[in-house]
Amino acid sequence: MAKKKVVALGGDGVGPEVVDATCHVLQNAGFDLEIIKPPCGEAAMKDYSNAFPEETRRLCDTADAILFGATGITSVAILAYLRWFLDNYVNIRPVKYYVGAGTCLKDALGIDFVILRENSEGMYSFAEGDLALLRQKLADFRTIMGKSLADFGDGKFALRIVSERGTRRFAKYACEYATQRRKNGYLGKVTCVTKSNVLRQSDGLFQSIMEEEVKKYPELSYEHYYVDDMARRLLRFPKEFDVVATENMFGDILADEASELVGGLGVVGSACVEGKVAYFESVHGSAPDIAGRNIANPTATILSAKLMLDYLEMHQEADALERAVAAIYKDGKNLTYDQGGKATTMECAKAVLRQMK
Ligand code: NAI
Ligand code: MG
Repeated sequence: MAKKKVVALGGDGVGPEVVDATCHVLQNAGFDLEIIKPPCGEAAMKDYSNAFPEETRRLCDTADAILFGATGITSVAILAYLRWFLDNYVNIRPVKYYVGAGTCLKDALGIDFVILRENSEGMYSFAEGDLALLRQKLADFRTIMGKSLADFGDGKFALRIVSERGTRRFAKYACEYATQRRKNGYLGKVTCVTKSNVLRQSDGLFQSIMEEEVKKYPELSYEHYYVDDMARRLLRFPKEFDVVATENMFGDILADEASELVGGLGVVGSACVEGKVAYFESVHGSAPDIAGRNIANPTATILSAKLMLDYLEMHQEADALERAVAAIYKDGKNLTYDQGGKATTMECAKAVLRQMK
């Protein structure tokens, strides 16, 4: 079988540091991968005056998978391409505790759930503009409170789009995903999170489509919480969740919150799938406050690579990588500063690699 081709894009800030560290592990672990690192992000901006050169984009289009670091401001075009243009409309964010990770809880043992975030629309539909424009187009529009758009005066609007098609495809994926997890011994429970008590039409639609789809899977259990209640439940009852399915911005925010249950942003990876080419990235951003110092935790990107290996059907390799991560946390000697350790980004990655040898 031909080697799987992975394009690794560092992006901005700590992105190149954590991607280089992760690639060091993948390349030296003897995995059957061809890893290409074309120019991109802040480095490419210096050399090519373009954060996303055409050749890099072309390589992404023909890759089996893409590993991405993070975007700050410079690499926004890359993220826009990977997420919206390639249409990776599901973001899988596993929240799993590894013994030794710097949790904010007294007892995090057993936390192991997944946030599925609708990744293409909702509040992040990039449909913003001047209220004046909306006022012109919708002169007769009235809010439930009877206000016209003119009554708001000047300002800006953002459309939060919940489409039938976008929600249906996401809901179907969530049900299939929960079914698969159930087969692997998990609860088989979908927790739908919305704000349908206030956003009655848009989130009402999201909730009702989720419910229609879940009904087709009698072996799955289902619950729904409003997002504000969910923010609290994540802290109080984190072991009760299995698959949490929610809108784009809610998933973005809840995942950062949930990361603290299991050690923070340095340890939570993600997969963006179902588009033309899947890509894999940490939940964190470019961390400009620590960039360039080789102290960022590479675990989030290494665990994103684990998801990538599973996606590429390299399950043994994925398991080996995850076991190695679990082992270095348990041992605790080669962790980065965010976990209370002193290891550099590369030292932490090399410890993972040593565990696999
Ligand atoms: P951030 O996730 O970059 O950082 C938040 C905090 O977590 C910072 O204190 C940072 O030092 C820490 N942190 C993040 N990753 C870490 C790691 N691997 N190891 C140790 N500590 C880590 O979020 P922030 O500061 O709000 O945003 C910075 C930039 O990143 C912004 O331009 C934002 O738009 C972008 N961003 C990009 C994302 C992406 O590429 N998918 C996701 C989130 C933010
Ligand atoms: Mg985020």
